[in-house]
Amino acid sequence: MSRLPWLLLLLLPPPTSTTAKDPRDTCPLLCDCDHDQKLVRCEGVQVISLPDRVPSTYETLLIRNTSIRSVAKNSFRKMERLVNVEFDHNPHLSTLEKLAFRGMKKIRLIKFASSPQLTEIERGAFTGISNQFGLKILFEDTPIRRIHGGAFRNAHSIRELSISGVDLALSRHSFASIRQLDFLTVSGVVLAEPELFSNSTRFHIVHIRHSEFDLPPRVFHDLSHVHHILIERSRLASIAPDAFSGLTTIEVIELSGNNIGSISARAFTGVENLGQLKITRNTIQELDTSESVLSTAWQTRVEENTLNCTCDLKWMTALSETSDVNFCGASGAYRSVRSFALATCAMPSRQKQSVAVPVIAVTSLSSSLFLSFSAALLSCFCFSSHGFCLISQC
Ligand SMILES: *[C@@H]1O[C@H](CO)[C@@H](O)[C@H](O)[C@H]1NC(C)=O
Ligand SMILES: *[C@@H]1O[C@H](CO)[C@@H](O)[C@H](O)[C@H]1NC(C)=O
Ligand SMILES: *[C@@H]1O[C@H](CO)[C@@H](O)[C@H](O)[C@H]1NC(C)=O
Repeated sequence: MSRLPWLLLLLLPPPTSTTAKDPRDTCPLLCDCDHDQKLVRCEGVQVISLPDRVPSTYETLLIRNTSIRSVAKNSFRKMERLVNVEFDHNPHLSTLEKLAFRGMKKIRLIKFASSPQLTEIERGAFTGISNQFGLKILFEDTPIRRIHGGAFRNAHSIRELSISGVDLALSRHSFASIRQLDFLTVSGVVLAEPELFSNSTRFHIVHIRHSEFDLPPRVFHDLSHVHHILIERSRLASIAPDAFSGLTTIEVIELSGNNIGSISARAFTGVENLGQLKITRNTIQELDTSESVLSTAWQTRVEENTLNCTCDLKWMTALSETSDVNFCGASGAYRSVRSFALATCAMPSRQKQSVAVPVIAVTSLSSSLFLSFSAALLSCFCFSSHGFCLISQC
């Protein structure tokens, strides 16, 4: 008879407070444990540090609205079975120490949302995780301003790494020594140092967007086996010679929807084994020579860009499929590069009697001069049609 209460106790769900005997199954102080969701939630300003351990069958740790300031080295050494760790609304969280997540073999998601003081990712912060499965590391609404070299050193099997920065500086070796990263998405970049990706391999997509920076030489040096590098909707004051050199075995390099100051000659040389170079829908101020799009790519597509048309672009007419599908900006009356060049930049044999001669001389002078000259030429060549100009009409 006296056994009955014991039986009842066994049938009850596991205790959620400190009553259990085995400390490994105790819900941590100031946290609550949802057995059905396998979720440990530590919430509120009174929480000032991470729990030491969580009950062994629980998979998710949610740290919300706490006063926690840092994630110390080896924070999870007694929580190796966690699958998800989420930090949400932690106004004081500012430091992720080196080896903070070491040994989390089962981890699949590490997420930081709304952590306004978390502005740097330190060297080694994501080193030593030893994840057995694809891992997502996400920073959302968290204004990362600097990623230090070696932040992800020796990381591997990253399913997704997504960082929306604010005035973000990428230090040399920011993404160095990573083996396999499927989706890398970075925004808010204002500075990129050379050699961001040294010794990294097997990336599916490197996606940089909504950024404003210069591409110096050798940014992608020593990155190999990449499916796609996409730089999108960014402002790139200049793309240096050799910006992409040292990349090996890459399917596509794509620049799309950017506002680009200048693409240097030989910007894309030094890429080994490149499938496709795509430069589409950008506004480009300077693309002086054919060498600006020179590469060893199997296929080069330069399309739907808006260029600052001058007669320096005449080289493009040698490829009619390129000069027909790229367009001039206002100074070239939005015509295709080809019709601009045909109308404006006379053939050498005709130069003597052609009005186009002054334009060739003037392109290196001030833009206002150039604009007024080209406007005069437009009325001369194009008064009767849109985008189709006959030299004989002048
Ligand atoms: C954080 O906690 C404070 C007080 O404990 C509460 O007033 C506030 O609404 C909480 N904020 C969020 C985002 O949960
Ligand atoms: C890259 O690998 C080489 C050879 O193993 C090593 O000497 C170098 O220090 C590594 N660079 C980085 C940034 O890890
Ligand atoms: C077009 O190019 C000329 C010469 O390179 C430059 O002076 C001018 O500012 C450019 N125009 C625009 C709109 O960028």
